[in-house]
Amino acid sequence: MIWKRKNLLGLEELDPEEINFILDAAGSFKEISTRPIKKVPTLRGKTVANLFFEPSTRTRMSFELAAKRLSADLINLSPSSSSLVKGETLLDTVRNIEAFKVDMMVIRHSSSGFPYSLSNLTDVSIINAGDGAHEHPTQALLDLYTIREKKRKIAGLKVAIIGDILHSRVARSNIWGLTKLGAEVILCAPPTLLPREVEKLPVKISYDFEKVIKEADILYFLRIQKEREKRSLFPSIREYVRLFGLNRFRLELLKKDCLIMHPGPVNRGIELDAEVADGPWSVILEQVTNGLAIRMAILYILSGVRTNLKKVR
Ligand code: CP
Repeated sequence: MIWKRKNLLGLEELDPEEINFILDAAGSFKEISTRPIKKVPTLRGKTVANLFFEPSTRTRMSFELAAKRLSADLINLSPSSSSLVKGETLLDTVRNIEAFKVDMMVIRHSSSGFPYSLSNLTDVSIINAGDGAHEHPTQALLDLYTIREKKRKIAGLKVAIIGDILHSRVARSNIWGLTKLGAEVILCAPPTLLPREVEKLPVKISYDFEKVIKEADILYFLRIQKEREKRSLFPSIREYVRLFGLNRFRLELLKKDCLIMHPGPVNRGIELDAEVADGPWSVILEQVTNGLAIRMAILYILSGVRTNLKKVR
């Protein structure tokens, strides 16, 4: 396949062939991080700018490490110590970073659609690292990669996404990615934590947590995003944990080969008990490892550099 897009903005716009192309490329890059010298010259001379206007540990650090392992130059904008605090506009800030002749910008912002708007104003490749409650495409790609690696397939699997779906860009990107690759997606949450017009999404809905966890091949838990709630959406955390939390007593209901996934950060004791998050069903840290390979693949693909991936040295 010849990659034709300048940007990675969301999975809704990608077709299955493009998604599989990224997953296959990530397979080639994963091995680099197992070598004694974890660096290749593939993106030497390219420059990546990380612009994170919201907090991040996994996404920001893995993009930074991905750029460094591919020998690209990397610059980071820290909004709180930038001229934004002196009143410079976001657009002026971006235009000034563009003036450094960077090749790619990785952007996280609380406004849904900000990376899309920006992509129309610049020739630099834009990578969406999470925009509001809209999409988080690289998270879903690393999740798809992890599922495919563990289960050897995605089509036909039953994937339950459980928790705060209303505020979740991760849920949206995963719904597009999973269904495009043939999985069945079931959303399980209190009705107040489901998005408006959920019936327009290609998913089933269930409020019966114990039934869902018995049947699913993958249980994908989401954090309650208290920081995005404008009003209380359920009576209490204690009630939420009772109805939708996975504790060790409920583990016996799961299929033997069920995977427990979470994009992080985990609220231990709420969506998952600590011993579940750290237990044998959990692939949470493998998701993080795979996130590095996915982000190396994205930087490589969008850079326009053409190398035989079988010979990445
Ligand atoms: N999953 C995820 O996006 O984590 P961070 O917010 O730490 O980047």
